[in-house]
Amino acid sequence: MKRALITGITGQDGRHLSEHLVHQGYRVCGLLRGQQNPKRALVEREVPDVELLDGDLTDQVSLINALQKSRPDEVYNLGAMSFVTLSWKQSELTGNVTGLGALRMLEAIRNVQGSTLSGHTEPGIKFYQASSSEMFGRAHEVPQSERTLFHPRSPYGVAKVFAHYITVNYRESYGMFACSGILFNHEGPRRGPEFVTRKISRSVARIKLGLEDSMTLGNIEAKRDWGYAGDYVKAMHLMLQQEQPDDYVIGTGQSHSVREFAEHAFAHVGLDWRKHVRIDTDLLRPAEVDLLEADPSKARAALGWAPEVTFDDLVRMMVDADLENERPKA
Ligand code: NAP
Ligand code: GDD
Repeated sequence: MKRALITGITGQDGRHLSEHLVHQGYRVCGLLRGQQNPKRALVEREVPDVELLDGDLTDQVSLINALQKSRPDEVYNLGAMSFVTLSWKQSELTGNVTGLGALRMLEAIRNVQGSTLSGHTEPGIKFYQASSSEMFGRAHEVPQSERTLFHPRSPYGVAKVFAHYITVNYRESYGMFACSGILFNHEGPRRGPEFVTRKISRSVARIKLGLEDSMTLGNIEAKRDWGYAGDYVKAMHLMLQQEQPDDYVIGTGQSHSVREFAEHAFAHVGLDWRKHVRIDTDLLRPAEVDLLEADPSKARAALGWAPEVTFDDLVRMMVDADLENERPKA
């Protein structure tokens, strides 16, 4: 039985990935931070087979302990402060968790494998780093591939660039089996309500049910390459099953604006988005990422990976799930 340790187990991807790995026959451990983490119950309910271990990406000893307890074949580092807006307000903490957290985990792996600073690490524990299309930022070309220059536009993006390159560096320096998945935006009913797709699907449901009348948005012209999280975690797993470690762009290859997402979501329940959406300039970001669109051809060719859920399916899935969540219980 293969074993995996996942950081960020309480997040959208952590829950999807653990489900996928359990289904593949893995024994899965998840790193849970804090003494009263409110999401513990959610993970226990959704993926009861996962064993939760205490730990925090800002505390290296806790990472070493979690590795010693779980003895994983594969580590998936999904933990991060992942909300871009918050990264301007808590930039130092973002750097510490999202950037240095990856380094701490890489060093913890070397530590438990008994390697020296100059020596090569046995390529025993495979490592996956959750890199992000946010690293492309003010994108130098469209679409973006593994060869596109990074130009991050937020403290979050900058921290992810550090985590990405330290992963590449540990692969090159110590021969570690370390991969970075450069994932474009992926969503679904488990998405946090702070992100724009879920904010829209939730508001659409509440408006349809007569619980609210309007919602606010910031920059509705921003374009993203949106896919379904359940599809994307399969790519993470596939990366660690290859002969050689490498980095891959994962996305659909199609982009849509926030405006289009809202249009489709309201139309799905028979409403006109223009009657319910107000623009709030306070929601604009200090520096925006205008257009992200993936060139996932390397992943298609090398991993045989392709997304299954279309943009239209995704919007419908999220709105339908929120109609169910928000419907007053009898
Ligand atoms: P998410 O739902 O925001 O989950 C983030 C996870 O990180 C949560 O489990 C959170 O735990 C954990 N975390 C935060 N601070 C931590 C700390 N100090 N120590 C340990 N864990 C900590 O994010 P997601 O959407 O699942 O994304 C997973 C990863 O992929 C993240 O690294 C994200 O940056 C990256 N990514 C996401 C996307 C996307 O579109 N979803 C695209 C590219 C890359 P708590 O619940 O305890 O806060
Ligand atoms: N959150 C939010 N709320 N975003 C809004 C709003 C709003 O009310 N109105 C417009 N937007 C715009 C943002 O300005 C941005 O251009 C776009 O919607 C998407 O915002 P988010 O859903 O917050 O996601 P993100 O693209 O900034 O970041 C997500 O994707 C990255 C991958 O590219 C996060 O999941 C990151 O962790 C991830 O790395």
